[in-house]
Amino acid sequence: MIPDEVVERVREAADIVEVIGEHVRLRRVGTDFRGPCPFHHGTNPNFSVSSRKGIYHCYKCGVGGDVFTFMRAQLGLDFVESVKQLGERYGVAVQEVDTRGPRVRDEREPLWEVLGAATEFFRETLWNHVSAEPARNYLHERGISRETADAFDLGFAPRDGEALRQHLSGLGFTDERQIEVGLLVRRDDGDIYPRFRGRLMIPIADTGRHTVGFGGRIIGPGEPKYLNSPETRVFLKGRLLYNLDRAKQSLRKEDRVLVVEGYFDVLRLVAGGIDPVVAPMGTALAEAQAALLARYTKNAFLLYDSDEAGLKATFRSGLELLRHGVAVRVVSLPDGEDPDTFVARHGVELLERHIASAMDVFERQVQILERHGWFAELHRKRRAVDKLLPTIRATADPVTRELYLARLGELTGVDRAALQREVDASPDIRDRATNADSGSSQRSSDQRAGHAREVPDPPSSAGRPGKWGGRGTNRGRFGRGRGGRRWWQDAPEEFMDSSTPRPGNMPMRGAERSLVLAMLHREGLIATIAEQARPESFRDPLYAEIFALLVERGEAGDPAEMAEALSPEAVVELQSLLGAGGELTAPHVIVHDSLAKLRYFELSEQIDEVQQLLERAGGDRRVALEAERAQLTEERKALGVRGNWARTLGS
Ligand code: UTP
Ligand code: MN
Repeated sequence: MIPDEVVERVREAADIVEVIGEHVRLRRVGTDFRGPCPFHHGTNPNFSVSSRKGIYHCYKCGVGGDVFTFMRAQLGLDFVESVKQLGERYGVAVQEVDTRGPRVRDEREPLWEVLGAATEFFRETLWNHVSAEPARNYLHERGISRETADAFDLGFAPRDGEALRQHLSGLGFTDERQIEVGLLVRRDDGDIYPRFRGRLMIPIADTGRHTVGFGGRIIGPGEPKYLNSPETRVFLKGRLLYNLDRAKQSLRKEDRVLVVEGYFDVLRLVAGGIDPVVAPMGTALAEAQAALLARYTKNAFLLYDSDEAGLKATFRSGLELLRHGVAVRVVSLPDGEDPDTFVARHGVELLERHIASAMDVFERQVQILERHGWFAELHRKRRAVDKLLPTIRATADPVTRELYLARLGELTGVDRAALQREVDASPDIRDRATNADSGSSQRSSDQRAGHAREVPDPPSSAGRPGKWGGRGTNRGRFGRGRGGRRWWQDAPEEFMDSSTPRPGNMPMRGAERSLVLAMLHREGLIATIAEQARPESFRDPLYAEIFALLVERGEAGDPAEMAEALSPEAVVELQSLLGAGGELTAPHVIVHDSLAKLRYFELSEQIDEVQQLLERAGGDRRVALEAERAQLTEERKALGVRGNWARTLGS
């Protein structure tokens, strides 16, 4: 006999879609899943599974039931055995006197056990041990509540070299087992010491809810910031996703997944009520991780840092997901913010708004190319097509593929059929360079992705200072020198770097920014500025967009309302401008100078044009053009813009 309450817990924990999905090819239809009925061996999708209700039903033959009935009907297990197997799989302890002899033990169980015991030990230490006070303070300062910490089973690994080992051996776990799971390390001289010391411990579980490894964050500054468990039989980074164990139901229910980079991004979002969040244990998603996600939802939102490395990881993950028929959208956060800091500062509502206006991954690639002038000129356009083709080739969903092709045709004016031929000419090849080197087309990229962020063991980390040394120093995590170059990597460096100036002249950007900044923070200046500048005067499309909106509204007013009318990229810019009001020490002077610069630039452009016409003109026309040039030059001189700045504009 198993207590009802335990049965209920198992029912709650078990993922009916996952269980049935192993026997029936299910597809999401609305909130439910459909597939051919395994009981009457149907071919039409009459068999429906509801994740929310935890039941299945066939509209044709009428069978139905819950996850336990399914186990019985499909696998011939009795009720008690079904509950036990599912309890095992989903991490619910099921006690029952077993009369049927020993059940089959999973060979990984000894490892799960010791890791589970360690999780408990770390948790206990975090809350009850005096040496863990800095860790408790750290959590407090980061705004992580006790409730959140407990929901994630956070713990603390004491500095004491023997505490964990003693505790675990007291429970009967040998050193060997502790070494095998990476909790203890045996040095060359035979000494055994704990891998994690003085770190905040973040347990990582597999989808069956067994702890399989840890991420250990240093408290305060130091290297490496995160020390992770080594790869073991149960901790296979490229196949695991942090938090998928807790999030998987919500992935199905909400039919979306948010992919973030770090543990704390996950913690913060979940604490804020956003559940379907996972983090790969390396920046980019590995092939196996993408495949795993695709089983739960076909809608992914990538929330990586907006630095160059983040963008690379975004596109790389995007390709893997596209290969599994997942629709991929990119959420761009302001420079220097990750989901954690963004939510801490602006709240989850604003994040949800960003998510709602996320841009399709292909569209995002187009946008970056466009911003860097790749569609402006014929030869670059040709290369831009080459950069975008792999994305189209990787796209498994036929409709999305068609849409991408159509979009590329529209962008370049190249005939659809010609593009189609290009797409078909070579198949989707993952890891082109690697394959060429190794001659193996099957070498999967997940190995690299899974290891890309791996932290060297403590003894060897000393020789690699700064590898994880905080923001900025980890730029180019997937950068040059790693072999296997990808499409964005042979683009000019600035291509991927969202922090490089957007098109337009550098000095102009400063002036454009100042004007928009002044309009936002000194509404009285909007009218004045609007009289002297037009959206076309702006070279930066984002400032032009914000400028146009301010002119139209005649006031700054509610930022949220403004954000409504802006592109996601411009919203990001708007946010940064809203926080920069302090720069406006002498607004009138700044505005005057900036308007002059804008005009100066416009005049310079006109002078260039006249100059070009002059080179081909003759006779009367020449005289007229010369006069025009003289007049423009005079006007430009009258602006009184001087110094380095003017020289850079090529006067
Ligand atoms: P980040 O460097 O972006 O850190 O690494 P973070 O998540 O913002 O960390 P906090 O907010 O300072 O605590 C993102 C992820 O990359 C992995 C971890 O999984 C981390 O959460 N990482 C990072 C490592 O494995 N090792 C490192 O040394 C650094
Ligand atoms: Mn962070």
